Amino acid sequence: MDLLAQWFGSPDFVACWGGVPMSRDQVAQMYVGRRRPHVESYLVPAQCSGTPVGYAQYWHAGVAEGGVDMVLGPQARGRGLGPDAACALLAHLGGNLGWRRVTVDPLRENLRAVRAWEKAGFRKVSNEADDLLMEFSSSAVRRE
Ligand SMILES: CC(C)(COP(=O)(O)OP(=O)(O)OC[C@H]1O[C@@H](n2cnc3c(N)ncnc32)[C@H](O)[C@@H]1OP(=O)(O)O)[C@@H](O)C(=O)NCCC(=O)NCCS
Repeated sequence: MDLLAQWFGSPDFVACWGGVPMSRDQVAQMYVGRRRPHVESYLVPAQCSGTPVGYAQYWHAGVAEGGVDMVLGPQARGRGLGPDAACALLAHLGGNLGWRRVTVDPLRENLRAVRAWEKAGFRKVSNEADDLLMEFSSSAVRRE
């Protein structure tokens, strides 16, 4: 909770998330438990650090599909940790939960995010709004 409150209270952290800094109470309401099981929240670990480096979540949008979001702390970005974490989440969603389709919707100009999702196996499926729609489909969903 301390880590989440620090992250989501920071303008830099929330800027790419499309949000505004939140109070500790708001963070607790939004990211700890309340939205389960529709939304599941995770901390992103990193082998090189004992402290988690970011936040990820998935949300159900149907029987075997849904979306994911991820934000790493500024110091953790650009080291390949995002695609690694995305692959781990996809393995869980496909292998354990049986999802056949996973989407993500980065801002079109967020080229690092678009590239990171591509590295994790997502492909662009729609480019019409401000957000890109990218999809990871059943043929690519890993089975554990
Ligand atoms: C998006 C995010 C999760 C990606 O994770 P990451 O660990 O930083 O990703 P990587 O280190 O693998 O870098 C992604 C790729 O983007 C490339 N990249 C970086 N900046 C770029 C730019 N301006 N234009 C094009 N490509 C760029 C990198 O070179 C890398 O590709 P490469 O490995 O082929 O060289 C992370 O940067 C983050 O949390 N950003 C802030 C929040 C955010 O944007 N979340 C996504 C919301 S959809």
